[in-house]
Amino acid sequence: MKEFLPAERMKVVSYPIRDIVMEARKEEKAGKKMIYLNIGDPAQYGFEPPSIIKEEVKKALDMDLKGYAPSQGDDELIEKIAKIEGCSEENVFVTVGLTEGIEYFIQALVGKGEKLLLPNPTYPLYITKADVFEVKSEFYKHDADGQIDVEDLRTKIADAKAMVIINPNNPLGSLYSDNNLNEVIAICAEYNVPIFYDGSYDKLVFDGYSDFRKLAKGKVPFIYGSSLSKVYLYPGARVGWVAFHGDGWEKIKDAYFRLCNQRLSVNWEFQKAAAAAILDDSHLVQVKKDLLERRDAMIQAAEGLPLEYPMPKGAFYAFMKITSGKWSSDWDFARAAIKKGVVVVPGSGFGKQDGNYFRATFLPPAELIKEAFEKIAEIL
Ligand SMILES: Cc1ncc(COP(=O)(O)O)c(C=O)c1O
Repeated sequence: MKEFLPAERMKVVSYPIRDIVMEARKEEKAGKKMIYLNIGDPAQYGFEPPSIIKEEVKKALDMDLKGYAPSQGDDELIEKIAKIEGCSEENVFVTVGLTEGIEYFIQALVGKGEKLLLPNPTYPLYITKADVFEVKSEFYKHDADGQIDVEDLRTKIADAKAMVIINPNNPLGSLYSDNNLNEVIAICAEYNVPIFYDGSYDKLVFDGYSDFRKLAKGKVPFIYGSSLSKVYLYPGARVGWVAFHGDGWEKIKDAYFRLCNQRLSVNWEFQKAAAAAILDDSHLVQVKKDLLERRDAMIQAAEGLPLEYPMPKGAFYAFMKITSGKWSSDWDFARAAIKKGVVVVPGSGFGKQDGNYFRATFLPPAELIKEAFEKIAEIL
């Protein structure tokens, strides 16, 4: 049989957040109870999306939307997003989760061998997609509080094609201050580098949050992205969007049009539901209360352990550095945690780190977090 060499290319496609699960499932099959702190899926831990989403999906089924939806997105949804974004409707594209919006951004904007500036640590999809499109990813650092290290950024920005900001950050859980963001905006404006702002968690914040759109407006061109997955607790809906702000986007928008056209459309019923849901954030009061309680449970459970991390101020993750010196590899640590019955993601899955880290989500109920950290404590 012929060798299927092009499949070799797929070796760059990985997703550590899920890859680690395969190892955990083996242990589970052998009868071990497992606590999953690896994946940021609110549905797995009892968080319910606003009820209006399901109701509107049911209504939409009766609207007989059998055909393909408009490729750029449902008109009504685009109108609502444009309102939130403060931009015109032609600047909005609905995508299959923000995942697709990210893929199109890299594909459309950053050429082969060109530099894409990513946070370190970063959400792994950015690294994978950069690899797939043979884009050169370079990483900017954070300080101990999880703020962007602007001095480091300055040394890397000059020849970057674009910069990605994730705020609140996954995996750090950190929230950038206005000062920090203003400095970053000024640097990007100075070097004429556009920003891709990943606002997947933009309303899941505990301690104040400034709208990046207002901070950056008129100063630097940016794309703002978000989705139903986290803020509206419905990752399975697979509805996301990007909005273009500022000047100079004509060619990139044309590329988005083409990319959206070739994949035909996003599920129409869920777009209708999104249109009904995204102007009402009343569910977030309870969600943030629950998350804060669970975050505090994690901080308490980690107290006294050899771990360092910025205080999570948004999203639902903590990114912890193991300071005991006991582990020489984060994967070895994560495997040992699985043997104890806890699944966390090795830090290197979020980019190369200067030590051994892991990411844990505080989505589970407080008792489960406590139990997980008691097990982790035994191997730290
Ligand atoms: C920072 C960040 N961006 C993008 C995504 C993709 O989200 P979705 O495609 O479900 O909108 C995620 C999912 O976990 C994320 O954490």
